[in-house]
Amino acid sequence: MPAKIAVIYYSMYGHIKQLASKAVEGAKTAGATVDLYQFPETLADDILGKMHAPPKDAAVPFITPNDLKEYDGFIFAFPTRYGRAVAQVSAFFDATGSLWATGALTGKFASTIVSTASQNGGQETTHLTTIPYFAHMGIIYVPIGYGDQNLLNLNEIHGGSPYGASTHAGGDGSRQPSELEKGVAEYQGKYFAGIVGTFVAGKAAAQ
Ligand SMILES: Cc1cc2nc3c(=O)[nH]c(=O)nc-3n(C[C@H](O)[C@H](O)[C@H](O)COP(=O)(O)O)c2cc1C
Repeated sequence: MPAKIAVIYYSMYGHIKQLASKAVEGAKTAGATVDLYQFPETLADDILGKMHAPPKDAAVPFITPNDLKEYDGFIFAFPTRYGRAVAQVSAFFDATGSLWATGALTGKFASTIVSTASQNGGQETTHLTTIPYFAHMGIIYVPIGYGDQNLLNLNEIHGGSPYGASTHAGGDGSRQPSELEKGVAEYQGKYFAGIVGTFVAGKAAAQ
């Protein structure tokens, strides 16, 4: 049975959405069944308008806490707000209390993808400050290490770290994810799906 993976993103201006889509592609090449979701929006339409946020992609469903039970692993993708995850992600995590109470996510896997405006705007802190949620849920955190050697490239400005893929949007959002950054996101999807797939196959064989 193939691993079931949910790639769940929040993207106000589209940068993270591009990386999430590449992670979906990568996970599929590893043989996983992959579904793409969005985190629910928490801001009112007039606020989103003032922030110049384009409309959400109506083709991508919003995740609910109970949906998480159906998957072996999650790739969570979201931008930085002040060096940590957007409040939309925290609000969703806060709504998963019944999953915590029942241990419903224990033994599942997760990996993270992030974006910031600037180079030192908090990419690693955004990955790191999300890990406590995984610990409390019993979710196994999967970093990507340096398996993609492009992470060591010093010839161009790029996101991506051992914690996961990332991009720099620029202060005005005009910078788009580079080919290198999209490649790291694809690698992350494939690598993560490989880890989860190995676990799922091993568990099935042991039963
Ligand atoms: C309220 C707010 C806080 C932000 N805080 C940071 C920050 O701490 N560091 C940074 O580099 N970028 C920061 N940004 C920029 C966002 O991270 C950037 O818009 C986002 O990564 C773009 O991704 P998206 O197109 O998927 O929404 C902030 C943006 C907003 C609206």
